[in-house]
Amino acid sequence: MYIASTTAPVNIATLKYWGKRDKTLNLPTNSSISVTLSQEDLRTLTSAATSETFSEDQLWLNGKLESLASERTQMCLADLRQLRAELESQDDSLPKFSQWKLHIVSENNFPTAAGLASSAAGFSALVVAIAKLYKLPQSMSEISKIARKGSGSACRSLFGGYVAWEMGVEEDGSDSKAVEVAPLEHWDNMKAVILVVSADKKDTPSTSGMQTTVHTSDLFQWRIKEVVPTRFEEMKKSIVEKNFPVFADLTMKDSNSFHATCLDSFPPIFYLNDTSKKIIKLVHAINEFYKETIAAYTFDAGPNAVIYYESQNESKLFAFLYKLFGKVSGWESKYTTESLTAFTTEFET
Ligand code: DP6
Repeated sequence: MYIASTTAPVNIATLKYWGKRDKTLNLPTNSSISVTLSQEDLRTLTSAATSETFSEDQLWLNGKLESLASERTQMCLADLRQLRAELESQDDSLPKFSQWKLHIVSENNFPTAAGLASSAAGFSALVVAIAKLYKLPQSMSEISKIARKGSGSACRSLFGGYVAWEMGVEEDGSDSKAVEVAPLEHWDNMKAVILVVSADKKDTPSTSGMQTTVHTSDLFQWRIKEVVPTRFEEMKKSIVEKNFPVFADLTMKDSNSFHATCLDSFPPIFYLNDTSKKIIKLVHAINEFYKETIAAYTFDAGPNAVIYYESQNESKLFAFLYKLFGKVSGWESKYTTESLTAFTTEFET
């Protein structure tokens, strides 16, 4: 039996991917940017094994046997096997992994109840573990195209730190890939706090939500053509220059723009709840109070907030968070690293 393991962290978009131009290949309608949490924080650990004796592909997710039958997973496995088959055709001495079945064991180190998108870390870890097992020579950007087919946002979790997913223009997706904007250490005082507003499963899954938006929202056309292309360049620049106020404004505006297109979809999609809106108001109030932008919120396809801030402003930010959310039911978990820290806590709504 041959085995390889890897970890892939969760990434949180600061410039949102929302909309597909090709549903099967997961080709996006706009480029996006994210920050990948560090390996010690929220991550998926995946091991992939292969043996001539295995009779079927199998996956254990958090200790439970799960199906590998989804079209997306099958596409990732087929791509990886094809790359491996190419290697085997060039070197006869290589064991024929491409023809053997796989056993995959995957585990998240964060509570699923935290309501955090786990598909990004999950697909990223799955694809990288198998790529390692197969000893594929392709670059991470190349491999990210395979993870992208599993879940769009997964392609960004192949890199640490600040990552751009370039949408590309080709119909076959050959140029739709993740690239590093800057490593995590580049901006080592950046932190994130995750406020778990609700641990419920989201009522509109991202995949179907984005399709509704693409087909029905007029605002969406404005967003992908006029807003995001400029914002993409500006945000990359703010990261390279470590300009927090600019990065923060762009992050908040893009979260709002994404949720506005959800509201403009027909029927409308609501991801934010009243607590999310309270958090938005609070962050603006904090920034106004200090007469300086020290915090930036962003929300994905659900009500939970991620707030980015720089470590020197932690007590300034947390003083307000504690004050507003007096009914904090206790820190649920705390993830600490040298450079990026994520906390999760639950609020009563
Ligand atoms: C709001 O990557 O989960 O988190 O490609 O259909 O699997 P699929 O969607 P997914 O969508 C993520 C949407 C988002 C924004 C983002 O992460 O950029």
